[in-house]
Amino acid sequence: MSASQHRPTGALVRTMFVGVAVVFAALVMGTGCNLIFPPVNNEPNNAEPNTTEPNTTEPNSAEPNSAEPNTPSEPVFNNLTDRTNNGATYIGSKACMACHADVAAEQIVHGHAHKLNKVQGQAPSYPEEGTRAGGFDPPEGKTWDDVAYVIGGYIRKARFVDLNGYVMTTGVEGVNTQWNLDFPPNGNTPGWVPYEADRAPDDPKPYNESCFVCHTTGPMPSDPDHPTFQDNRPGMEGTFAETGVQCESCHGPGSNHVPNPAARNIYVDKEGVTCNECHNRPFQSDTGEILASGGYIKHHEQYPELQASGGHATFNCMVCHDPHVSTNYDRENAITTDCTDCHTDKTLDFHEGKIFVRGDYTERLSCESCHMPYATKSGSAAGPDIAGEFGRIGDMRTHIFRINVNPVDYTAMFSDDGKSVVRDSQGRAAVTVDYVCLRCHNGVGNAFGLTISAAAAIAEGVHGN
Ligand code: HEC
Ligand code: HEC
Ligand code: HEC
Ligand code: HEC
Ligand code: HEC
Ligand code: HEC
Ligand code: HEC
Ligand code: HEC
Repeated sequence: MSASQHRPTGALVRTMFVGVAVVFAALVMGTGCNLIFPPVNNEPNNAEPNTTEPNTTEPNSAEPNSAEPNTPSEPVFNNLTDRTNNGATYIGSKACMACHADVAAEQIVHGHAHKLNKVQGQAPSYPEEGTRAGGFDPPEGKTWDDVAYVIGGYIRKARFVDLNGYVMTTGVEGVNTQWNLDFPPNGNTPGWVPYEADRAPDDPKPYNESCFVCHTTGPMPSDPDHPTFQDNRPGMEGTFAETGVQCESCHGPGSNHVPNPAARNIYVDKEGVTCNECHNRPFQSDTGEILASGGYIKHHEQYPELQASGGHATFNCMVCHDPHVSTNYDRENAITTDCTDCHTDKTLDFHEGKIFVRGDYTERLSCESCHMPYATKSGSAAGPDIAGEFGRIGDMRTHIFRINVNPVDYTAMFSDDGKSVVRDSQGRAAVTVDYVCLRCHNGVGNAFGLTISAAAAIAEGVHGN
């Protein structure tokens, strides 16, 4: 498909151009362009932790009780380096809740806590804040007695692990084995879809350490000489200490901290090292490559996306995120630094106060509406009934942030084989306008239709500088 075919043809589009040009002129004259950085409410994350906290390199050498760090005026000497907490062992997140009830109350709503759910004869339960979660049965022909674990089922989709420890695939089971959750932004309604339909019936897919390294706490690879299996299930080679991404996944094992609680004997990941390992493909990769398939970015590529974001490339996740709070179910508290805290000169321009409406779905325009479009797919993507002929709507927001204002469609965003996102000589990527503008401006909802070239022409210099 060649982008040059999509010319602005409608009279409506031409009228818009004139209107926008006037808006632009006003903006160019009135814009200050001062970027205030770093933001006032986020200083600790941007400072080098080790320059101000000299004791952090030897966190466990001091006697745990030799100082009382609890008075607000005294500095807290965190363990910022030793992820093992001096060789401690995993004791389970329940042990943390007694003393850190506030953090635990946030964590229980986060997807991390519900990533892997052990099934005991009945459907897993999810907190009521997770309004899109749960509400599904096992794949057709199965009961909950046939299911050992549910993977996810909280954010976008659920997959099912059988009693032998294999992920149920369509190829093996002969029925659809992935349940997609409700997702209003792309019009997806809950339902079954195939998962690995091409898999040979005699080749079940193991749910082993290669998966649960990112889905559990305290994962341990199997020793080839003396193989270990979680719950003795043959598909689950390797073991883990606890299901889901729980407290000790990011803070390290807690057996030394709990009997003698002090900041210095529990790891705190101020740099976001742990986040980067899982929000990436494969685990712990550092190639910067953003993998793709079927015209969408693959899900869990937030770390390489951020590396490709130009202006945000050196940020860690905590610059914007509270690590304990769910973005999907507690958006206000999850994001600690908003776009406009730093980009004080930017506005929504001609989208100020606009509300996008398509059927039951409504969205108040925000910076994220354009800069974090659904260019990523976890479970579902919209068809033409929702996205129009040229719009693109997956089901996860991208962290690339940069927008390509050339009149090109999504194919220009990917390598020729479609397997990765194209990056320029400085390692930067950019999202095309069919994800950015045409997810709304496709004539299906209340936003008038735009062609790719019309959208690109308006997009260029949109903030007036
Ligand atoms: C018996 C009560 C208790 C239990 C149980 C407990 N903690 Fe703590 N925790 C504390 C105290 C007290 C501090 C020190 C707070 C300070 O110095 O400001 C602390 C500090 C921390 C810190 C550093 C806080 C900071 O201000 O940087 C983290 C992280 C932490 N705990 C995580 C955990 C985890 C994970 C668990 C479970 C494995 C856990 N805690 C179990 C009492 C407890
Ligand atoms: C996904 C990783 C992750 C998980 C899971 C996690 N934490 Fe944290 N936690 C962090 C990071 C990163 C920080 C440091 C945040 C910062 O300084 O900006 C932190 C900070 C803390 C602090 C000190 C500051 C604060 O926010 O109060 C405590 C206490 C704490 N965590 C306890 C816990 C407990 C208890 C759990 C489980 C209920 C838990 N954490 C789960 C990553 C995590
Ligand atoms: C051990 C692997 C692992 C680590 C470490 C990890 N994550 Fe995650 N993260 C996941 C998985 C798996 C999910 C999906 C959870 C689900 O769907 O139930 C997820 C989901 C999320 C979500 C969306 C959840 C929601 O409820 O909206 C955010 C935001 C997130 N992670 C941020 C972070 C940040 C920030 C850090 C570091 C402080 C981090 N993650 C560390 C594996 C990890
Ligand atoms: C490198 C880390 C990593 C590995 C390995 C990994 N995942 Fe995930 N997975 C994630 C993260 C992070 C998320 C959530 C964030 C996202 O989707 O962008 C996720 C999300 C999911 C979800 C959706 C959960 C929900 O509530 O919507 C399912 C299902 C899933 N993974 C299954 C698998 C299976 C099956 C395997 C092994 C074949 C696997 N994953 C391997 C990191 C990983
Ligand atoms: C510049 C700010 C910023 C940085 C840095 C950032 N995020 Fe986000 N992230 C956001 C915002 C804003 C949202 C929520 C957008 C919304 O839904 O309104 C978000 C949402 C998410 C989601 C949920 C996406 C979805 O569609 O459900 C995940 C997962 C996530 N972030 C992971 C990460 C990880 C991992 C890192 C670090 C590698 C990171 N983020 C760094 C701003 C940021
Ligand atoms: C902690 C401060 C901070 C936050 C929060 C932040 N930004 Fe940025 N952003 C920067 C800095 C610094 C740059 C680089 C300087 C510049 O390009 O002006 C930048 C650059 C950018 C760029 C240009 C990238 C490029 O290199 O082409 C875009 C687009 C952008 N930000 C959008 C956003 C959006 C949208 C959000 C909210 C989801 C956001 N930013 C949140 C500080 C921030
Ligand atoms: C989340 C949906 C959404 C996204 C994304 C979006 N728009 Fe809009 N846009 C709207 C809605 C809704 C309106 C108001 C339509 C109306 O009132 O008729 C609008 C209005 C406009 C207008 C007319 C403004 C005026 O003053 O009447 C232009 C031009 C426009 N959009 C261009 C774009 C371009 C170019 C992009 C991508 C860079 C974009 N939009 C992204 C929803 C969106
Ligand atoms: C209607 C879609 C849309 C909305 C809404 C939007 N932007 Fe943009 N933004 C763009 C486009 C398109 C570009 C690229 C312009 C170019 O390259 O000529 C851009 C560029 C940027 C840049 C980098 C270039 C520059 O002009 O400095 C930053 C930073 C930025 N936007 C921040 C924001 C922030 C902050 C918000 C929310 C207040 C926001 N944007 C809202 C479409 C949008």
